[in-house]
Amino acid sequence: VQRLLSLKDLAGRHVLVTAGPTREYLDPVRFISNPSSGKMGFAVAERALARGARVTLVSGPSHLEAPPGAELVRVESALEMQAACEAAWDSVDIGVLTAAVADYRAAQRSGEKQAKAAGPLSVELVPNPDIAAGLGARKGARVLVGFAMETHAGVERAAGKASRKNLDFILLNYPTREGSGFGGDDNEVTLVTPSGEAQAWPRLSKLEVADRLLDQAVAGLRAKQQ
Ligand code: CTP
Ligand code: CA
Repeated sequence: VQRLLSLKDLAGRHVLVTAGPTREYLDPVRFISNPSSGKMGFAVAERALARGARVTLVSGPSHLEAPPGAELVRVESALEMQAACEAAWDSVDIGVLTAAVADYRAAQRSGEKQAKAAGPLSVELVPNPDIAAGLGARKGARVLVGFAMETHAGVERAAGKASRKNLDFILLNYPTREGSGFGGDDNEVTLVTPSGEAQAWPRLSKLEVADRLLDQAVAGLRAKQQ
């Protein structure tokens, strides 16, 4: 019933979603990445479209098909993802950052494949820019939502991230918990605010998590833009 009442509550809104992993190439054939499937972000894109939003979906490599109507920007590296997000940000109302951005990239990407016969390989890794923090620094009256996967001290660490990155809230999950995290169709998350308030949600499908987070974002947007 709530879904019917809130139908098209995102009409006229522009939602930016990041999804999937990023790939940081060491040389033309080897990269650093992570197991993110993109499912959570694609679910947010699908629900935002169904609720009437314009959706820009910036996705790292994923086998998923974008929901019809989404403006899909396919990227590989964190630097490409950042550029695509920054380019869209001016017209965005709600940003939902589900991407598992690789934290490091090679300081120097080799143009040639290194033969393993050359022996051990040392690679200098440098930190990637924080896309969330960059968008958060020029948030204005937008709503910005993040995700965090933590193995320990989850609420505290997630609240710290929400605060540092200027997020309205962050959805915390644990890689070890059944029905949560990478790859699956369900997710069990806790909403954490920058000040450390926590609200545990039941195990839900990723589409249901998407709807709930969009409910919160719409409420936040209305509160700011009154
Ligand atoms: N994020 C981002 N850009 C990065 C890293 C993270 O936009 N370079 C976003 C993620 O999409 C997510 C949130 O920030 O919404 C939290 O990601 P997480 O990896 O947990 O945060 P980090 O600051 O990278 O902290 P950690 O060292 O624990 O990985
Ligand atoms: Ca990280």
